[in-house]
Formats: sequence, structure tokens, C-alpha cells
Amino acid sequence: MLVPVLAYRRRYLLAARSRTRLAPSLGLSFVLSLAACGGDTSSTDGEPADSDTAPSGTPRAPDGMPASTSTPMNDGTGNGAPDVPAITDSPETPATPAGPVGTPERPPDTALTPLPAPPLTPAPDARDEPRPLTEPRSTASGFPVVENRPRSIEDTFSEFGEAEFAAGIGEPVLDAPPDHDPRRNRPPYIPDLDNVTVFAGSTLELHIAPLDPDGGVAGQWIEGSPPGSIYLDNLDTTRTFVWRPLEPDVGIRALTVHTADSEDPEVRVTYTVLIRVLMPADPSTIENRPPGIDLVEPQTVRVGDPVVIGIKGTDLNGTLTELEVLNPPPGATLVTHPEDPRIRVLRFVPDAPGTLDLDVVGRDARDPELFAEKTIRVTVRSPGHFAREGARLRELADARDFLIGFAAAPDFDTRPDGALYAAIAGEEFNIVSTENSMKWDTLNPLPGVYRWASADNLVAWAHSRDLIVHGHTLVWYTQLPAWVKRTEPAMREGHMREHIDRVLTRYADDVPLWDVVNESLEADGGYRDSIWLEGMGPDYIEIAFRQARASAPEATLIYNDYDIGWAGPKADGLLRLLERLQANGTPLDGVGFQLHVSDDFDRFDELAENFRRIALLDLDVYVTELDVTTSVEAENAQAEVYEGILSVCLEEPRCKALQSWGFTDRYSWRAEDTPLMFDRDYTPKPAYRALQRRLGEN
Ligand code: G3I
Repeated sequence: MLVPVLAYRRRYLLAARSRTRLAPSLGLSFVLSLAACGGDTSSTDGEPADSDTAPSGTPRAPDGMPASTSTPMNDGTGNGAPDVPAITDSPETPATPAGPVGTPERPPDTALTPLPAPPLTPAPDARDEPRPLTEPRSTASGFPVVENRPRSIEDTFSEFGEAEFAAGIGEPVLDAPPDHDPRRNRPPYIPDLDNVTVFAGSTLELHIAPLDPDGGVAGQWIEGSPPGSIYLDNLDTTRTFVWRPLEPDVGIRALTVHTADSEDPEVRVTYTVLIRVLMPADPSTIENRPPGIDLVEPQTVRVGDPVVIGIKGTDLNGTLTELEVLNPPPGATLVTHPEDPRIRVLRFVPDAPGTLDLDVVGRDARDPELFAEKTIRVTVRSPGHFAREGARLRELADARDFLIGFAAAPDFDTRPDGALYAAIAGEEFNIVSTENSMKWDTLNPLPGVYRWASADNLVAWAHSRDLIVHGHTLVWYTQLPAWVKRTEPAMREGHMREHIDRVLTRYADDVPLWDVVNESLEADGGYRDSIWLEGMGPDYIEIAFRQARASAPEATLIYNDYDIGWAGPKADGLLRLLERLQANGTPLDGVGFQLHVSDDFDRFDELAENFRRIALLDLDVYVTELDVTTSVEAENAQAEVYEGILSVCLEEPRCKALQSWGFTDRYSWRAEDTPLMFDRDYTPKPAYRALQRRLGEN
């Protein structure tokens, strides 16, 4: 009998939750409707269906021993629930205190070991160097625009390979409050889950039926469901995940399935199911779906500016849609995007105000009778329409030796209104953050593959308009390329340090300010789970800063986080973290307060107090990602919050900069809440005037 054990994860000063791994219960059966094309979609244990090495349908237990498919593992209760061994520490053992406390494992002033030699992954080389842009793609002008070379290999990377699939479903993970006693309240589990294989064009139906050993109805939800899939409620406490993958879905993806205890919903068990999509022997059996034309929002542009509109044909079967503009403006050109053949790039220069309705048709590559139509509305305004009264924000900020800035939407120079965007940003701001262009998943999608163009173009534009570039971000728990997430924990220090060194080396002369580590803390001040914490423990933060200092000795190095601007456990945890880092001699220059807030924010005194606490550590303060959600009716309240936060910053001598996270609602990460100082058509809002007024005051 397989008796699973609870493998407690190492407790790194855990926050208020404990996470443990449960060995999966066995006893596998799940519902798969046979495919429309008659392909066999029966589950395999990870070997390709035609393999002779592993008979299909034989599930594997965690230890690799074939398990019975008829009698689920018996925990003595006969119901197949995972065993829960005796808890060694009594329930009254206090949970690990939330928040970074104590000293890190690294003794103070410990120097870094040399970077891996040879490097763990190929360093950037000439193949990665972007080339000057020739096709008419760039909207913004006045700086050299470059583009990445098309790569022969797809920049996609399946996070899971055949080995992971063959290993069978991984151990479920128990997530529960530290005072949870699994002997008293046994966790729920889902007895009938395993990795599944389905053929493109077939329909997968995965029946999910969680059980609570103590009775009651266990809750369930899923994450990572692919577009087009559905999650049916069978109205009998079970659900069915339904998905019909097509050609582009071939590969292995993860579906995360969560179940919550009926008595205490905070007690949750999570399973990762791998879904492998294979091509059927006869691809013609896959339904040919009609093409689409990617949403091209209505645009507002300026007379005389080059307008560039990337029109993307979409086709769920992965074929190229034939695109045509039926009524192009005079002098317009239409070329294929050099990096993405699905995109046709329309470029023209409007010479008079007015409204253009551009009619586009997209035809299916296999069947011209299948087509899509879309009209793109372009509103052309005269330059005077965008004039702003009073002094520009950057003029007022320069006069006070202060930095006022924003985060740049990625590749704004290639957007239809890129010229207008660049003009206003260059007039108003003296510092710019890279919203996404310097994140790891953008820069280095595959080992040895670097895509610098987006970041290079932002740097070139910023320098052409005399803005400082604020690099964001080197070490973060998310937006990581799949290949990084699959690295061995023991190798992660090397990978992290190589990445820091390569990025800082490339931009050593261009980017003087960096968010080195971003969002390492949980709401309760404990360390956030991440592949970095798993690989190096809490010391990854110190190691990252030490590597950054070594790679860019002149750069200003910042720790950046959100929800640290007011009293609470996270701000307290931050203080302890900073004190520990400083006690260890960690090179650190400042703290970034993201300040993603709403128009009812009123904790200005607490913000001032927290800025002061940072200053007393001899660290600088940066407002790095300010945005203030609001509604059209409450724009004055929004303006008061912008002005209040700017005041707190200006009144704190160590507060060096205030940057909003974007400047036009059109490209905000939460555009629906209109959080920025310009609306989507570049009309300044009360918030803009509030900043202008406050910066102009003594
Ligand atoms: O570029 C791809 C595009 O090719 C693809 O078609 C599309 C759909 O999948 O995704 C595009 O990438 C998106 C990227 O923004 C660029 O637009 C990612 O999916 C999306 O997750 C990413 O969201 C960004 C988010 O960080 C995660 O990186 C937001 O724009 C960005 O505003 C937000 O910024 C973060 C800061 O970095 C850290 N602080 C919080 C802040 C808000 O979440």
C-alpha cells in the first residue's frame, strides 16, 4: 500500500499560511468523450499513444510504481483520501512569525562568488543585436528605431515537456492556515485526476469531482484554462472542463485545479494537471474555423503625424489570414510586419482633421468563402486640439530638481498614435520607466535568445528627448519566461545573477536607476513564494543587489513594492527587511513605493510617516507606479489624491521622483478605471492640472 507522506516545504519565515505537499491519492478514472475525428483520446501515462514502452491507461503512482486502477490508495478509511500522518509539532506550536525577522543565512558583508563559468546559458551575441528598422512601421520619429531579427526558432517554450507529462500528475499541494489540524479536519482531495492527452480537433471533457473526507461539499475552481475552453457546473457538486484544442494548441500545458474544504475554505488543495495536445493522424479531420481580425481600437491622431496601424489577422487553425484594406487613405502603404506575418502594417500621414472609417477584410487561407470584416475608426485632430495651458510638468519639476515621469507602454513608437504619445510624453516628463520592455520574459524568452529592440527603442527615444530611464525590473516572481521557471532550484542563483549582469552591462550607460528586486513581500510582511525564494532562500534579495552593484557600480539600486505606503504588517515587514539588508552591508540606495491607489485614498499622513521611516535608514524614496482609479464623475477626487501624494513627496527631502504608471488611460493596465492624468484621447484631466499647480508652488 502506498502511504503518502506530507513533505513540508522549508519554512522561510512563512507568512500567515503554511503550504505542504500531499502525495496524490490514486484510483484514476475520468471522462473523455471520444473525439469527433475518432482519434483515441484515452489517457496515457505520458508515453505517446503509439509507444510500446508503456501500455496506455496504466496510471503511475508518485514513486513510479504502477498503481491499481481499481482500488484507490487506502488510508484506512477506504475512501482513497491522502493519508495525513501524525503532526509532529502540537497544534499549539506557534506558526512561524510573519515578516522577515532574524538574520539571513549569509554572514554580513559576504562577497559574491564569481559568475558561473562557463555561463549557464549562452550570453547575448551578434545574432541578438537588433537591426535598423527599414519598413514603414515606426510612428514616432526623431530617434533611430530598431527591430529584433526574426528568430528561426519559435520564442515559445512549453513550460512542461514529455518528461513532466510522463511523470504523471504531480503531488497536490495543501495550503492552509498554520493552526489547521488535518487530523481534526481532513483536507479535501480529488481522487480522479491525471494528466490527459487529446488530439487537436477533438473534444476533451475532464470531469472534476472533489471529495471532503469529513463530509460536506468541497469547493473547486481552476486556473490556466485556455481560450475557448469552458468549465461546466454539473449541478451535482462536480464540474467538467471542456476544451476543443486546434493545431496551434499542440504541446503540453498545465491546468491548475483547486479544491477547498467544506468546513474551512481556507484549507485548500491544489493539483496541476498536464494536458498534452497531439496532432491527429489525419489533420483534415480538424474543423476549419473562420478567420478573425484582431481588435483595432478607434484611434485619435494628429494632422501631420505618421499613423501606423498594425492589423492582425487571426485564425484558430493557425493559418495566415489574407488581409485587405478596401479604402486606404491617400498615399497609404500596406506591408507585412517583419516579425509577425499575421500582421499587415498600414501607414499613412493624415493632412486634414476629420474622421476616417477604414474597411478591412480578412479571408481564410484554406477557404476564401470564410472571411471577416472590420472597420477601424480614426479621428484626426488638428495639433492645436492637444495644446495644454500653463508650464509643462517637467519644466516645473526641473526648476525644483525633481523628477516627474511615467511608465512607457511597450513599443509605443509602433502604435497608431505613437507620434502623439511620444510628443506629449517628451514635453511633460523627465524620467520614464519601462513598463514591460525590460522584464525577463520580454528580454530573454529562451535560453540564449535576447530581444533587445523594445528596450533599445525606448532608451533611444528617452535620450532623444533628454529623459532619464528607470529600468524595471530585474528580479520579480512573475513575468518570467517558461524556461526560467523550469530551472533547477540549485541553479537559480547563477541564472538570476547572469540575467542581472547581462541586462545591466548592456544598459550601463543608458539606465542609471533600477528596480532591482520587485514585490518580494506578502501582505502580512512575510516572504512571497517564488522560484527565487525556493532556490536561494530570503538571501536572494541581498544577492541580487550585490550582483547589481557589481555589474553597474554607478547605478541607483531600488527595492520596489506595492501597499507599503501606509501602516500595516507589510510596511513593518519591509522595514525589517531593509534593516536586515543594511546590517549585512547590502548595496541598496532607495525604495520604490508603487502606490496603485483609488480616488478615496486619504492616508497621506501614514504615507509621509513611511517615507520618513525609509529616509531615516538613509535611503531615498521614489513614487514609482502611481495611478488612481476613479470614474468620470469623480475626477476631482482623483486630482486631490494625485496632488496629495505629490505634496507628501515634495515635502520629504529624500523623495526624489514621482512617476505615474502610464500617462494616458488608453494604455493603462487598468484602463477601465481611468486612473491616469490624460484621458484615452490625450485630453488632460483635473489630475494633470493638480500636478501642474502643486509643482508650481513653492
Ligand atoms: O506582449 C504580449 C502580446 O504579444 C500578447 O498577445 C498579449 C496577450 O497574451 O500579452 C502581451 O503581454 C502582456 C504585457 O503586459 C504587454 O502588454 C502580458 O500578457 C501582460 O501580463 C502584461 O501585463 C503587465 C503586468 O505588469 C505584468 O507584467 C502590465 O502591462 C503592466 O502594467 C504591469 O505592471 C506591473 C509592474 O510591472 C509591477 N507592479 C505592478 C504593475 C501592475 O500590475
